[in-house]
Amino acid sequence: MPDLTSLIREALMERFGEELKVDKDLSGLDGLARIAVHRVHRRYLARDVAPDLLRLLCACALSAPSKSDLQQGDILVIRDRAKRDAIAGLLPEMPWVSDAPVFLVFLANGRRLPEISRLRGKPFPNDHLDLFFNATVDAAIVMTTFLHAAEAAGLGCCPISVIRDHARVISDMLDLPAKVVPVAGMCVGWPAEKGGITPRLPLDVTVHEERFTESGLAGKIDAYDRRRAATRPFRNQRDTAHFGRSEFYGWSEDKARQYAVPLRGDFGAFVRSKNFNLD
Ligand SMILES: Cc1cc2nc3c(=O)[nH]c(=O)nc-3n(C[C@H](O)[C@H](O)[C@H](O)COP(=O)(O)O)c2cc1C
Repeated sequence: MPDLTSLIREALMERFGEELKVDKDLSGLDGLARIAVHRVHRRYLARDVAPDLLRLLCACALSAPSKSDLQQGDILVIRDRAKRDAIAGLLPEMPWVSDAPVFLVFLANGRRLPEISRLRGKPFPNDHLDLFFNATVDAAIVMTTFLHAAEAAGLGCCPISVIRDHARVISDMLDLPAKVVPVAGMCVGWPAEKGGITPRLPLDVTVHEERFTESGLAGKIDAYDRRRAATRPFRNQRDTAHFGRSEFYGWSEDKARQYAVPLRGDFGAFVRSKNFNLD
């Protein structure tokens, strides 16, 4: 029997650089430990995920809370090799999309609710930004719950938002109708390696007490960059042709370089073209 309190404390120390108190009598330590040691997996064994297991995990994922019980997050399962290859072909920089035995797409479904109103002969005066927002939030919660369920069963996952770089092609390929958009894909498979914990920003940056604060942000980010570089240094520097080589290349430099170029600027137009009203 592993010492769960030590496992949790050590994982969260590595993640946040903070010694957290974990009561050994707390119930559900095994569940907390699984969440604390989370890591995405991008390498998989050549072993299938049984359809019954996948269905069980989908059921667990869709047991997640849902805004107003509206149930606007859907899961689209892709096993068909030709379809998988077509998606993987759009994302050659991410070979794990082709390697994973199962690929899922989590969908924001803002279609069913107005359709239900129509079926019940009621008006639907709520075709505005909140419809898109609620459906997207529901889909994201379903996706996260799927990931935790899959990790509990020993599987490894990697969400794939890069499918939204090709939103229109993916939408056509999967026959997504009006008011249904992909939020993220997800590779699912049996992990081929253990993987490592990715450090996160310290809790005093992301957990706010009573009111929002940003005090000392630059110093805290710099300290995080250095803590993270000690265990998970970046192997490559992004876009050196534009930005040159940094002597110290931390997380904030990487994210600033990543977002120094326009990304997915056409996504709003795509969502509008799927008949979502974003006003
Ligand atoms: C919504 C979402 C989209 C993501 N999209 C991608 C992606 O397109 N490709 C990829 O390799 N990883 C993707 N990831 C995985 C993140 O890169 C990963 O979660 C992050 O680096 C932190 O690592 P960790 O989850 O192991 O802690 C995504 C994660 C989330 C939550």
